Amino acid sequence: MTVGTAADRERLLATARSVLVRNWTGASTVPSRQQYPHQWGWDAAFIAIGSAWLSPRRAARELQSQVRGQWSDGRLPHIVFHPDVAEDAYFPGPAFWRSDEAPAGPHGIRTSGLIQPPLQARALLEVVRHCRHSLAARELARRAFPALAAQHGYLARRRDAGGGGLAAIVHPWESGLDDSPAWDVPLAAVQPPPGGVAPYERRDRRHVDPRERPDDAAYDRFVQLARAYRDIGYADDRLADRLAFCVEDPLFNAIWLWSTHALAELAPLAGADAGPYREAAAGIHHALMSRLWDPERRRFLPRDLTTGQAIDRYTVLSLGPLLDPELPSDVAATLAADLGSERFHGPAGHGVASTDLTGRDFDRRRYWRGPIWVNLNWMLARGLRQHDKVEQADLLDATTLDLVGAAGMREYFDPVSGDGRGVHDFSWTAALVVDILSRQGLT
Ligand code: SER
Repeated sequence: MTVGTAADRERLLATARSVLVRNWTGASTVPSRQQYPHQWGWDAAFIAIGSAWLSPRRAARELQSQVRGQWSDGRLPHIVFHPDVAEDAYFPGPAFWRSDEAPAGPHGIRTSGLIQPPLQARALLEVVRHCRHSLAARELARRAFPALAAQHGYLARRRDAGGGGLAAIVHPWESGLDDSPAWDVPLAAVQPPPGGVAPYERRDRRHVDPRERPDDAAYDRFVQLARAYRDIGYADDRLADRLAFCVEDPLFNAIWLWSTHALAELAPLAGADAGPYREAAAGIHHALMSRLWDPERRRFLPRDLTTGQAIDRYTVLSLGPLLDPELPSDVAATLAADLGSERFHGPAGHGVASTDLTGRDFDRRRYWRGPIWVNLNWMLARGLRQHDKVEQADLLDATTLDLVGAAGMREYFDPVSGDGRGVHDFSWTAALVVDILSRQGLT
């Protein structure tokens, strides 16, 4: 084991802390100074969860910065742009998204119009738990709760495109797993316009090996889909008819469910009634089981709402419902067994791969088409613990620390060799390493 001794752990913790300090801008944390120089939605949640061990005040600030980008319809955007960062530092930047022209867009701050997995309420709960004085906890919960309740309201009211109680995503970037093979089928149906996608310049390959980033065919479709949603003013009515990509994703919805349970726990602190959140959680649980669980294949699969068909690709998205505390025990056992199998672990024991290693779509180095990501390992370990699979969760946390201990605070990792991929000094890797080490009581 690479991170075997207390000294190894201290060193790892010190490195993780210094990444978080260097990526802190004064009000929020950039995922990476070079590659992602703004604030991202689910990154902010993971970062707050880790930073809360170091400074609950800074973690609270992180979430407040997120909420400053909220739209009047309740959506929390996937990127909140820093006003002092140049337009060409990241593509697509604020001039592409034009949130200031959207009817529900926020004033005085520029954002994207997409969303990301709604982990913020779960992060708020974790940050509140770190506030030692119950007064501070109550104050933080009271301030942030209404915005997160509105975010959940947006998902329930505006994104239930299938009418069955789940939230739909309208772009692969909304899943957080941009080029997952799960999106190949719906993306194949996205036809580039006759003259091709209007020119744009990719800026994501200046700092990262192009073999580790999504390919051009996927990127063209990402840009085209984002433009299409922007050009209808980010309106959410008749989504499955108006947009080429409209999908129910098991991981996105499992995170929504996990955060809904968090809202139920936070409600009394914020002076609200927990009942509606408990009911909402029961509804999402039933919808997950009835719409996305395939009892024959015994796996959760995303559903393409433009065709009504399940998407038969086995990726880490399918393991996300481990976050559902009400998952039937036989279903949890199936997911845990698959998670621990050669489908998601390389020959050297590294897991959890983002795509089934035994399938034809697996690519060990490209972004979400195979590599291991610390945030998925972390969430799956939390899910395993909820289902009393403590040993398996401990092992997964240990493999995460080993990977990072050997390869550094990288964005993602090769599941065969364990090599680091993507950017260096990646914030959520650092934040979740802090969380894992701190939970083990070693700080
Ligand atoms: N993950 C996207 C990117 O790589 C943005 O959300 O730029």
